[in-house]
Amino acid sequence: MTADHEFGNLSTDLKLSLVEEYLGAFTTALRSKFAELWYIDAFAGTGERTIKHKRVEARNWLPEIEEKIERRRGSARIALDISPPFDRVIFMDKKKAHCTALEALRAEYPTRLIDVVRGDANEAIKAELAAKRWAGKRAVMFLDPYGMNVEWRTLEMIRATEAIDVWYLVSLAGLFRQASHDPKHLSPKKRAAITRMLGTEEWEDAWYHRDVTIDLLGQVDQTHQRIADVAAMEEFVGKRLRSLFPKVLPPRRLRSDRKVPSFSLFLAISNPEPKAIGLATKIGNHILKAR
Ligand SMILES: C[S@@+](CC[C@H](N)C(=O)[O-])C[C@H]1O[C@@H](n2cnc3c(N)ncnc32)[C@H](O)[C@@H]1O
Repeated sequence: MTADHEFGNLSTDLKLSLVEEYLGAFTTALRSKFAELWYIDAFAGTGERTIKHKRVEARNWLPEIEEKIERRRGSARIALDISPPFDRVIFMDKKKAHCTALEALRAEYPTRLIDVVRGDANEAIKAELAAKRWAGKRAVMFLDPYGMNVEWRTLEMIRATEAIDVWYLVSLAGLFRQASHDPKHLSPKKRAAITRMLGTEEWEDAWYHRDVTIDLLGQVDQTHQRIADVAAMEEFVGKRLRSLFPKVLPPRRLRSDRKVPSFSLFLAISNPEPKAIGLATKIGNHILKAR
């Protein structure tokens, strides 16, 4: 079954090609060193990306161009095509139709060990990582949500494994939207969403400026507005990730079709061993800087 999954833009191709290159380099470098190499895709989609090219009407001497539907590989299929292959692949997605599509994808690879888990990524990762022994295993995890779905406690669990390299797509657009310019619109729900993602309330002091003036009658005039731009928010996220993971590479900023910064793609390494950091950094930097 094919569930159409339309998402992304040109940056999506870049994002997927960066991750694909890392996955190939990862299994090539570690194949002979570890008994098991895993790939965990916590927002796996369907294995496919549908791109609709709109019909273009005939104009002047140019003929009409019919609507065209193009299908490109999504992260799940990309991971299954990696050579040398991963020993175990875990796909997670909240949406039933996407899990059905992932099960159909699994059926195309009958000799491979592939799990499809339906549910919220935070809960599914918690269940998967709980009480797992990581000796002899290494993994790459891809966190590719549409928005601000990844909770800080989930990152803490990933970090605690000391075995997972994580590619994390951070929604700058989501943070920018939730952190309203005018704090009057910063509802408790918005505050909670940002805090859940960043694992601290410190973002509010860092992103907002409070100007308190007291007049002669002792009355207080408080102006309070957001001073952080997208770059400052990205910097804050980087600082938070660096406070948790032994190594975080400088991110790759991804833009929307209208050139607005929309996401930042981070690579964070949970293994504190200098050898592991050295290898992941070498591969990651090479890939991130080359494009
Ligand atoms: C940007 S798409 C992922 C695309 C995929 N990586 C690919 O390349 O094909 C995000 C996916 O996350 C799923 N999703 C949304 N919220 C989720 C959640 N809380 N937990 C798990 N999956 C979720 C959506 O159903 C969607 O398939």
